[in-house]
Amino acid sequence: MSIRFDYNGATTQAVGRSHGVTVKELEGLRKRAKGIHEDLMRRRRKKELGFYDLPFDDVLVRAIQEYARGLRWAENFVVLGIGGSALGPICLHTALAHNYHNLLPAAKRRGRPRLFVLDNSDPEIVTRLLDAVDLKKTVFNVVTKSGATPETMSQLVVAVELIRRKIGPKALKKHIVATTDVSKGLLRPFCDAHELASFVVPDNVGGRFSVFTAVGLLPAAVEGIAIHRLLAGARDMAKRCTRSDLMRNPAYLNAAIHYLLDTRRGKTMSVMMPYSNALRDVADWYRQLWAESLGKAHDVHGRKAYVGQTPIKALGATDQHSQVQLYVEGPNNKVFNLVQTERFRARCPIPKSFRDIPELAYLQGHDMGALINAELDATEFALAKAKRPTVRFVLDSITPENVGGLLYLLEVQTAFAGGLYEIDAFDQPGVEEGKKATAALMGRSKAADLAKAAEIASVWRKKKSLRSL
Ligand code: PA5
Repeated sequence: MSIRFDYNGATTQAVGRSHGVTVKELEGLRKRAKGIHEDLMRRRRKKELGFYDLPFDDVLVRAIQEYARGLRWAENFVVLGIGGSALGPICLHTALAHNYHNLLPAAKRRGRPRLFVLDNSDPEIVTRLLDAVDLKKTVFNVVTKSGATPETMSQLVVAVELIRRKIGPKALKKHIVATTDVSKGLLRPFCDAHELASFVVPDNVGGRFSVFTAVGLLPAAVEGIAIHRLLAGARDMAKRCTRSDLMRNPAYLNAAIHYLLDTRRGKTMSVMMPYSNALRDVADWYRQLWAESLGKAHDVHGRKAYVGQTPIKALGATDQHSQVQLYVEGPNNKVFNLVQTERFRARCPIPKSFRDIPELAYLQGHDMGALINAELDATEFALAKAKRPTVRFVLDSITPENVGGLLYLLEVQTAFAGGLYEIDAFDQPGVEEGKKATAALMGRSKAADLAKAAEIASVWRKKKSLRSL
C-alpha cells in the first residue's frame, strides 16, 4: 500500500492567514486529540466500534470467496440496497473492477457475473433491469441491515414474486443471497424460512462504515476483486491511523484540518475530487460518510449544535469544465481533497500524428496519464492562487491495497472528526425520521405510524396557505 497525505496546500503559507491552518493551531489540538483517541480506542476494545476490526476477519473473507466461486454459473449479480448498503459495493466496483466490466464478454470476465446495484425506488431502473437480464442466470443480493428499508424491501418483493412466477417457488434459494443483521430485523426470518444463503452485517457496524463487511466484500468478490488485498491495505492503514499523535496520524490530521477550516475559517464545504474515473465513487461514498456522520442537530451533551460540513463530489479533470470556475472564483467556503493516481493501470500515449497543427504539438508524445496529472497540478495551483485550501492524497496506483487503505483512513477520519465536533458520528436520527414518515405515508399502521401520518397531515394543511404554481 502506498498512500501519501500531503497537506501543504491547506496551510497559511499556501493560502494565507484567513484561509489556511497553522501548525500551531494543529498542535493546539494535540491534547484534545489524545482524549478523543483514547475514547475511540476504549470503544473499540468494548466492541462498540466494529468497523475498526473488520479488515482482520480472515474467516469472513474465506466464506465469501467460497460463495463467490460457486456463482460462476450466474451472468448477473444484482445488489438490492441503498445508502450504506449500496455505496460501498458501487465504490469498490468502480474503483477495482475493469472500467467496463459489465460490457466485457463472459470469457474476458473469466466467467464472473456482471454487477448491477439498484439503489433507488425509481420504478424505471427496477423494471428495465429486470427486462434486460436473463432471470435464470441472475442472483439478487438483498442488502439491508434493518430489513425494513422500503426501497430495498420493495425491490426484494418484486424479485421474489418474479422468481416464483417465472422459475418456480423452490428457486428462491438459488437466486437470492441476503446480507443482513444476524438476528434482528425483518429479513432474517425470511432467510430462515427459505433457507437462503446469507451473510451478516455486524450489530456494531453502521451502514456507512460497512464497506469491509459482506456488504462491500461479497459483490466485490463475486466480480473478481481481490478482497484479501483490499483488506491487507486497510490493515496496513490501520497501523498509521491508530497512532495517538495527531501530527503523525493522517486520518486525525485531515479531520483536524477540516474541523479548523470549518469552525475558524468558514470552509463549510468539503469537496472530494479524484483525478481518476475509477475513484469517482470513492467521492460518492465519502459524501455519505461525511454527511450522515457529522451532520447533527445536537452534540453528545444534548446541546443544540447544527454542525457538519457539506461534502461535495467532483471529478477531475471532467469538473474543471463544470465546477472549477465556481471553486476558484465563487465563495471561498470550501476545502478540497484532491486525489492523485501516479501510475494508471492503462497507458494511452498521444500519438505524434498532428504535425501540421503546431498548437497541439505540446500534447503529442505524452501519455494521457501525464495530462490528467498536469491538470490536477494546474487546478491545485489555481486554487492556491485564489487562496482556496487543498489537501492531496497521492496513490502510487489504483490497487486493492490502496483503495482499502484510503477507505479505512476516511472512516477513521470521520470517527475522529465526530470527537472534534463532539457529536455522535455513528447515529442518523435525520435518516430515521424520513424512514418513519415514508412508512406512515405508504399506509403502515402501527400506532407510531398513525401518529406520524397525523403529524404530516397537519403540516401539509398549514402548507395549503402557501402559494404554488
Ligand atoms: O449509513 C446508514 O446507516 C444508512 O445509510 C443505511 O445504510 C441505509 O439507510 C440503509 O439501511 P439498511 O441497511 O437498514 O437497509
